[in-house]
Amino acid sequence: MAGPLLVIGSVNYDLIFRHPRLPRQGETITGAELFESCGGKGANQAAAAVRCRGALGDAAPPVLFGGAVGNDAHSAAQRRTFEEDGIDTRYLLVLDDCHTGLSVVWVEAATGDNRIMNSPGANSRLSADALAAAPIEEAGLLLIQNETPADGVRSAVERAHGAGVPVIWNPAPIDEASDPGLDPRHVDWVTPNEVECGVLLGRTGERIDAGSAADVAAELLRLGYRGAILTLGPAGVLVAKPESPPELIPAPQVDAVDTTGAGDAFNGAFAAGLLATSDSREAAAFGVRYASDSVTRHGTQTSFARW
Ligand code: RIB
Repeated sequence: MAGPLLVIGSVNYDLIFRHPRLPRQGETITGAELFESCGGKGANQAAAAVRCRGALGDAAPPVLFGGAVGNDAHSAAQRRTFEEDGIDTRYLLVLDDCHTGLSVVWVEAATGDNRIMNSPGANSRLSADALAAAPIEEAGLLLIQNETPADGVRSAVERAHGAGVPVIWNPAPIDEASDPGLDPRHVDWVTPNEVECGVLLGRTGERIDAGSAADVAAELLRLGYRGAILTLGPAGVLVAKPESPPELIPAPQVDAVDTTGAGDAFNGAFAAGLLATSDSREAAAFGVRYASDSVTRHGTQTSFARW
C-alpha cells in the first residue's frame, strides 16, 4: 500500500451568517441565522478525506494533517474534531502567541452561495521552516491548498516532487500577490474553481463555466500541469489529462442550502479516492458525489457526512 494521505493547510473557525440577502456598503442587516463550524480549507479537506472512507473500504488511506493553530477555544474544538475523525495531528503546531484562524462567512439563503472574510492568525506561521518536520517524503499523496504562506506551499510541493510523491494543489484562495509561483510540472493535479482558473492563467477576473472549461483546462495543461480538474459548482467537474480528451463529470441535482466548503469536500474525497483506486476518473466522480451531498447541509465540516 502507498503511504498515507498528507494534508497540509489552514485551520479556521467559521462563523456563518445565513440571510435572504447580503449587506450593501454601509448597511447593517439583522436577523441572520448563525451556524458555527470548524473550518479552514486544509482542515476541511482532511475531514472530508477521512469521513468518506467508509465508501472506500480497506483501500481507504490513513490521513495525516500538518498545520498551525492557536492555543484557544477554537483550536480545542478543531483538535477534538480531528481526534473524533481519527486524523493524525502529530504535525499540527499549537502556538501560544496567536489566535486560531477565524472566518466570517455570509451565505445567501436563496442560492446557498457564499462570501468569506478570513483572519489567518496561526495559519500565517506555516512557513517552510515550520513544516521542516512534516513527513512529506513518506506520504503516498500530498494535498495542499493556498491558504497558508507561499514559501511553505512552495517548499512542500518541491519536497514532495523531489521524493516522487504525487501532489494535488488546490489553488484556493489565490490572487496575484498570493500565487506561490509553483512549477506546474511538479503538480500532478491542479484543482481550481471558476475564478481561480483566471488567476492561474494571468487573466484575473475572468470566470469560466462548463462551456469554456475544456479550453481553459487545455491551457492549464499547456502551462505544464500534469492534470487539471476544474470545479464548476452545480455543473460538476471537468477532468483533463494530456493523454486523454477532457471529460465533464456532472453533479447530481440537489437542493443546496450552503455551498461553503463544497470545493474542500471534493478535494478531500478526490484525494482519498485517488489513493484508494489509482483511477482519477473514478476518484473525481466519487469527489463530486461527496461534495454534492455536503451542500444539502449547513456549515463547513458540519456538512460533511460520515460515509
Ligand atoms: O472553503 C471554505 C473555507 O474557506 C471555510 O471553512 C473558511 O474558513 C475558509 O477557509
